[in-house]
Amino acid sequence: MVARMDPRSLFDLTGKVAIVTGAGRGIGLAIAEALGAHGAKIVVAELDPATAEHAAARLAGHGIEALAVATDVTHLASLTAMFDRAEQHFGAFDILVNNAGVSARIAAEDYPDEAWDSMVALNQTAVFRAMRIAARRWITAGRPGRIVNLASFAGVVADPMSAPYAATKGAVVQLTRTCAVEWAPHGILVNAIGPGYIRTEMTAKTLDLPDVGAVIRAKTAIGRAGTTQEVAGAAVFLAAPASSYVTGHVLMVDGGWTAL
Ligand SMILES: NC(=O)c1ccc[n+]([C@@H]2O[C@H](COP(=O)([O-])OP(=O)(O)OC[C@H]3O[C@@H](n4cnc5c(N)ncnc54)[C@H](O)[C@@H]3O)[C@@H](O)[C@H]2O)c1
Repeated sequence: MVARMDPRSLFDLTGKVAIVTGAGRGIGLAIAEALGAHGAKIVVAELDPATAEHAAARLAGHGIEALAVATDVTHLASLTAMFDRAEQHFGAFDILVNNAGVSARIAAEDYPDEAWDSMVALNQTAVFRAMRIAARRWITAGRPGRIVNLASFAGVVADPMSAPYAATKGAVVQLTRTCAVEWAPHGILVNAIGPGYIRTEMTAKTLDLPDVGAVIRAKTAIGRAGTTQEVAGAAVFLAAPASSYVTGHVLMVDGGWTAL
């Protein structure tokens, strides 16, 4: 029997602790701000120490309790140390957002091995390892948890010039579904967000190409690129009590790209 809650608490994250990887800028920073605005304390797990500190200061400026932890999520020791530091500082954590990622636009036949390896390390292996660390700790402590992974429209439909990226995001989709089923008995909900084109440093060069506006208008029902805040709202939903009956889901925030 699930207790009925006050509808005003459906998006309340007061007292929750959220770890957001790659929260220094872009979608990760917008998610950190949105989770924080709904009451969560934020761990900014970000590669560049100065960017991490800057983001944490910006969150603090909005009245959000935030801890900067310089982290390379592709190094297991650094990733594990970040979880340790988060727990030392805040106590247990409740939400993990696997956001750090990289993209590259290169023809598949020209794709260099080193670029493949580094992309898989960040977009796929680090995501799985972070999910595994979080789940182990929640299961051991008998605590519920929420995982929100950043997939992509490219994880579910073709995105030419991005084959390795698309492969890693497809892997994120299947990690999300499979771990959701494995961990549901432990009260751990695992979902993903599938953004379309969102204007960030990752996509600025592509979005500024002269013909890209026309492609996006043709490929999306809404007819424009999205904003980081439009992705952040989905993350709040997937971290909040409102989504307590949602798991293994990939929430497309793509302006209708995959609906067409
Ligand atoms: N922008 C888009 O259009 C779009 C579309 C679909 C999916 N996504 C996904 O959303 C996520 C965020 O994208 P974005 O556009 O905000 O990217 P971004 O490049 O603007 O930001 C990525 C952040 O991750 C950090 N980071 C990189 N490597 C790291 C590492 N090893 N350890 C820790 N942090 C690291 C970067 O320093 C940066 O702050 C990615 O997973 C991306 O694939 C983005």
